[in-house]
Amino acid sequence: MKVKIVEVGPRDGLQNETEILPTEVKIQLIHKLAGAGLTSIEATSFVSPRWIPQLADAEEVLTGIERRPGVVYSALVPNLRGLERARASGLTEVAVFMSASETHNRKNINKSIEDTLPVLQEVTREAIALGMRVRGYVSTVFGCPYEGKVPIENSRRIVRELLTMGVYEVSLGDTIGVATPKQVLEVCEVLAQDVPTRQLAGHFHNTRGTGLANVLAALEAGIRTFDSSIGGLGGCPYAPGAAGNISTEDLVYMLHGMDYDTGIDQTRLLEAGLYVQKQLGRELDSKVLKAHQVAKQFDEIGGCR
Ligand code: HMG
Ligand code: MG
Repeated sequence: MKVKIVEVGPRDGLQNETEILPTEVKIQLIHKLAGAGLTSIEATSFVSPRWIPQLADAEEVLTGIERRPGVVYSALVPNLRGLERARASGLTEVAVFMSASETHNRKNINKSIEDTLPVLQEVTREAIALGMRVRGYVSTVFGCPYEGKVPIENSRRIVRELLTMGVYEVSLGDTIGVATPKQVLEVCEVLAQDVPTRQLAGHFHNTRGTGLANVLAALEAGIRTFDSSIGGLGGCPYAPGAAGNISTEDLVYMLHGMDYDTGIDQTRLLEAGLYVQKQLGRELDSKVLKAHQVAKQFDEIGGCR
């Protein structure tokens, strides 16, 4: 059975790093991810460089990459200005985003939920008119760093609105990594009353270590698309304490062990993880990446002699 993985490391991962990686390193990372078999790569964001300086080189990254046939490269766009930048960079897919909680929405994009909906509607309409596909994100579905619990009805409404605008899929964000499998199942079951699960995706941050367990719950609920980031990089600068996304290496390891097909080459994926780890100069969170390095050292000293 197939599971689709959307690699968000170059965007969600790098937006939260204090160190700004050189454009060339970002380009090489994207090449390595595509080389490992990832066919959906969120490469950057066309947001305000004042808000996210880490991704201010979005144009340079997108014009610098060699596009591999069969790979869809996308970027976040908050408004028409972002869409125009994405179009000029030759993208065929963009992602619009907003939150299920009022305070996070304001902190993240400086607007109320009510004021955001018409903006995203316009962006989606224009993008579709330009022949692009549009993905949608709802953040803070499982909890908000400012408001705590978020009523499921908020997410339910936004998911419906985004799909009505014409997004092809909505990714459900556990922005601060508070969800547990029980909650994921409950949320998916409620949303599945309105929309087919093939139009939903899981975007789990692993702040409290429940990320992969949440994937299992979402799989049980029928979801077959998951966002993850290489090495487990990630977080939202406007969600204090948010840690990285589930790591792509860990997700692929688990899915392959359960006989799901992702089309990803695990060895080449590890190479991509080691590459970005070296560039950032710190140990990344991915458990599989850590285990790989331990196993390599063990081999180097001759294993169990
Ligand atoms: P604003 O300050 O309210 O808007 O920001 P503005 O229209 O007044 O613009 C302010 C400045 O930004 C102006 O420049 C604009 O020209 C410029 P200035 O005159 O001050 O020099 N500007 C832009 N520049 C480039 N590209 C653009 C653009 N738009 C305006 N597209 C805005 C509103 C939405 C722009 C801002 O709040 C913003 O960029 N927010 C993005 C924040 C962000 O990227 N957060 C992280 C991504 S979301 C996330 O991580 C969650 C997710 O992973 C799912 C999950 O985990 O839950 C997706
Ligand atoms: Mg995120």
